[in-house]
Amino acid sequence: MAKICIIGTGYVGLVTGACFAKLGNDVICVDNDQNKLEILNKGKPHFFEEGLEEIITESLANNKISFTSNLKEAVKNTELIFICVGTPELPDGSADMSYVMEVASQIGQFANGEKVVVIKSTIPVTYAPKIEAEIKKNAKYSFELVSNPEFLAQGSAVYDFLNPDRVVVGASNIEAMEAIADLYKNFDCQVIKTDISSAIMVKYAANCYLATRISFINEIANLCEKVGADIKDVSLGMGLDRRIGPNFLKAGIGYGGSCFPKDTKALVKVAAELNYDFKILRSVTEVNIRQRKIVTKKLKKHLGDLHGKRIAILGLAFKPGTDDLRESPSVPIIKELINFGCELHAYDPIVNEINGINGNSKLKYALDPYEVFDKADALLVLTEYPEFDKLDFSVVKQKMNNNLIIDGKNILTKHNLVNAGFVYEGVGR
Ligand code: UGA
Repeated sequence: MAKICIIGTGYVGLVTGACFAKLGNDVICVDNDQNKLEILNKGKPHFFEEGLEEIITESLANNKISFTSNLKEAVKNTELIFICVGTPELPDGSADMSYVMEVASQIGQFANGEKVVVIKSTIPVTYAPKIEAEIKKNAKYSFELVSNPEFLAQGSAVYDFLNPDRVVVGASNIEAMEAIADLYKNFDCQVIKTDISSAIMVKYAANCYLATRISFINEIANLCEKVGADIKDVSLGMGLDRRIGPNFLKAGIGYGGSCFPKDTKALVKVAAELNYDFKILRSVTEVNIRQRKIVTKKLKKHLGDLHGKRIAILGLAFKPGTDDLRESPSVPIIKELINFGCELHAYDPIVNEINGINGNSKLKYALDPYEVFDKADALLVLTEYPEFDKLDFSVVKQKMNNNLIIDGKNILTKHNLVNAGFVYEGVGR
């Protein structure tokens, strides 16, 4: 079993560290945020992710995982060092590499022998040589750089990590490559062994392609509305073609989260630096931003002036099973509705506050979905929780002032609602 250091306890770092510990490795997780470390040392993750707390509690009890801010000690006591710090979006769309570079410099400084340094953070492909140079600057010992991108999705992160479709390991040194591939030896999937640039490109290409599918299906949905077609049937018909497949063909108010919006823009930026105009990907982002605006457009179409209107909202996070609001379409939609003078009552099974909007008297959070409907002029669905479709809509109808439902995620059963007397507007239906 390996001695592993994980630097950064965000989604990727913490899930990776916890799962490697569960597999029997000795894991030290490093973070410079004392608040996070305090919570983690009590066995509690600082974000919600199904199954993660149990693994952390169990691994702490078995002494398989520890949490510290002492990077020097962690680097000294481990062989495989995973960089999992964030690469957030800069105002110009490129990835902020300052955290990765800082960590690279420290690894070089603190290494007390040969180490394998693994990049899990999503980094621009042009940065691998710069990271290598940064480690080398202070290093007294040799090291090997490996890229091992992560494909886990929030809401199913632990499952995805333990049941991957594939593992990708990029390196120029065979021993380092095998040491990392060995961590996944009991997984029932193909391990792709390649060079560093190809490994990084697999990650960007996969995320950007999935985002492209979503923007594509959203454009088809917008066209469906104009011709009176139903995108649900169109997606079904497309997805049953084995060459296309059914996933990531759900139309709605656009993709959110910390990955697709950031990675699509970052790849456009990298391409531009290499004098390549990545036309499709530029449009993918444009379409995604435009798509968020359809909710207020539809509201205005039915209600006219929105000032003083009461709006019920189901779902805040960018997807089910997470409390993450980063780039969630709900945030700009809510801000816009507050500006129009609406009164908002929102329910999300996990989220009960939005940073920056908290304390605004125009937005109230409910702990029960049925609390949001009282005297509402419209109901908006902004996250694709299947349980929203199981609500008793006869009760909802009695509580609401009006009968308008705008289903931004096409998650409700249209004909039931139409039969119950609602005016139903989905996306592309
Ligand atoms: C995504 C990728 O799916 C992961 O493979 C990748 O590892 C991760 O980014 C990352 O780079 O770390 P994630 O952002 O957690 O994962 O969530 P997704 O399930 O991909 O959903 C992203 C967004 O697309 C959500 O807002 C979701 O509502 C939306 N979506 C998804 C659609 O609008 N339509 C679909 O058909 C599917």
